[in-house]
Amino acid sequence: MQIADVQGEIDHELVSKEQIERKIKEVADQVSKDYAGKDILLVSVLKGAVNTMAAFSQALSINVSMDFMSLSSYGAGTSSSGEITVRQDLSSDVKGRHILIVEDIVDSGRTLDWLMDELKRRGAASVEAFALLEKPSRREINVAVKYKGFEVPDEFVVGFGLDYDERYRNLDCIAVLRPEVYQGGQA
Ligand code: PRP
Repeated sequence: MQIADVQGEIDHELVSKEQIERKIKEVADQVSKDYAGKDILLVSVLKGAVNTMAAFSQALSINVSMDFMSLSSYGAGTSSSGEITVRQDLSSDVKGRHILIVEDIVDSGRTLDWLMDELKRRGAASVEAFALLEKPSRREINVAVKYKGFEVPDEFVVGFGLDYDERYRNLDCIAVLRPEVYQGGQA
C-alpha cells in the first residue's frame, strides 16, 4: 500500500520506501561483515518488526536463522511498572548463539532492554540489536542499539510494520498520521 491509497489519513511522509531500502541495505552489508563465519539467529518481536525482518534478512549476504516472539507490555509510559510478558515464545534454544534482535522501533526502550537481558539470561553468546526507527525524545532506558536506522520525532508514525489500531502496517514507507484519525474524527 502506498500513501496515495490512504492519502486523506496521512499528514506527511517521514521516510520514503527508497530511503528505507537504502538504509536496510547499508546496515545489512555491515552486519554481513561483522558476523561473517558466525552462526547467527535473527530474533524479531511481532508484529511490528515483521516488515523490517523480511527486508533486512533478504538484504544480508550471509546465511541466518530467524525466530519470532510475541510480547505484551503493560503500563509503559504510565505510572505502572511497564512489565513485559511473553505471549508467544521463540521456538529456538538461544544458548551459545549469536543473536541479533530486529526491531521496527525503539520508543521507551523497555521492550528491547527486557529482551536483551532475557536472551543473555538464556545463555546467548552475544546479543545486539538493529532498530529501523528510534524515538530519542521518548527514551526512558538507555539501551544499546548497535545497528541504527532513522531517528524520528515524537509524532504518530505508521507504516512499514507500524500500526494505528492494526491499520497501516502494510504501508510501504514511514509516515505521520493525521491527528483526526486517532482523535476519533473522520479523515
Ligand atoms: C512496538 C515495537 C516495539 C515496542 C517499542 O510494539 O514493535 O516492540 O513497541 O516500544 P518501547 O521501546 O516503548 O518498549 P507494539 O507493542 O506496538 O506491538 P506491535 O509490534 O504488535 O505493533
